[in-house]
Amino acid sequence: MNKGLRKTVIAGNWKMNKTRAEAAELIKQLAVDGDKADVVICVPYTNLQTAAEAVGGSSVKIGAQNVHYEKSGAFTGEISADMLKEIGVEYVIIGHSERRQYFGETDETVNRRTRAALNAGLIPIVCIGELLDEREANITEEVLSRQTKLGLAGFTADEIKKIIIAYEPVWAIGTGKTATAAQAGEACGFIRGVIAKIHGKDVADAVTIQYGGSMNAKNAAELLAQEDVDGGLIGGASLIAEDFGTIINAAQG
Ligand code: PGA
Repeated sequence: MNKGLRKTVIAGNWKMNKTRAEAAELIKQLAVDGDKADVVICVPYTNLQTAAEAVGGSSVKIGAQNVHYEKSGAFTGEISADMLKEIGVEYVIIGHSERRQYFGETDETVNRRTRAALNAGLIPIVCIGELLDEREANITEEVLSRQTKLGLAGFTADEIKKIIIAYEPVWAIGTGKTATAAQAGEACGFIRGVIAKIHGKDVADAVTIQYGGSMNAKNAAELLAQEDVDGGLIGGASLIAEDFGTIINAAQG
């Protein structure tokens, strides 16, 4: 039982929601105390500065939802890791399934973005997960193995320990259809096994692996109790202060 070796991280993924004024209001409502879980809110780019100011001295950390892999240059519309770092961002979601589905994200670009984030001192939250077709075709493990190996190729053991992985079955995102606690636990355990084969058990035991996909105030405690589930990446429920607070408290047992 190695759960105690890892940090529990509860991260809200606001996606493309909230104006600056609404963001400041929601953050004001977030009541976070206790220290068993690290709490992060990943807000739209335009809200990063507002959010960094609004969390003030609290323990809530700020994350972005994407980052470009180059340091600077002719990449219209993109944002670099150094730009994020400068305004107080500490985490960044990489390879979310919505980016893979709508914006051409691949395991290769996930790998490059993760490299850029680590180089700048940001903590990457790398998302992986199978489609419904893939689960039904019984190839979930193949998909998770490929995404883990390609997404995290070329990093040292020390770098791997800094990366958070979010297991998000695509069929459970925004659908209200949650993986069962057993399915979530099994998949997160499998991903840990893939890392163990490459980097050894000590490294694998140190990596925080979150579950994401319709996690909410009701199901969080059971999901988070799983041995290999070290936190959550929460979309819809992170936009409701009370529900997000309940999830944070569930992580704190
Ligand atoms: P959801 O989203 O909680 O709304 O399903 C999770 C995510 O996309 O990270």
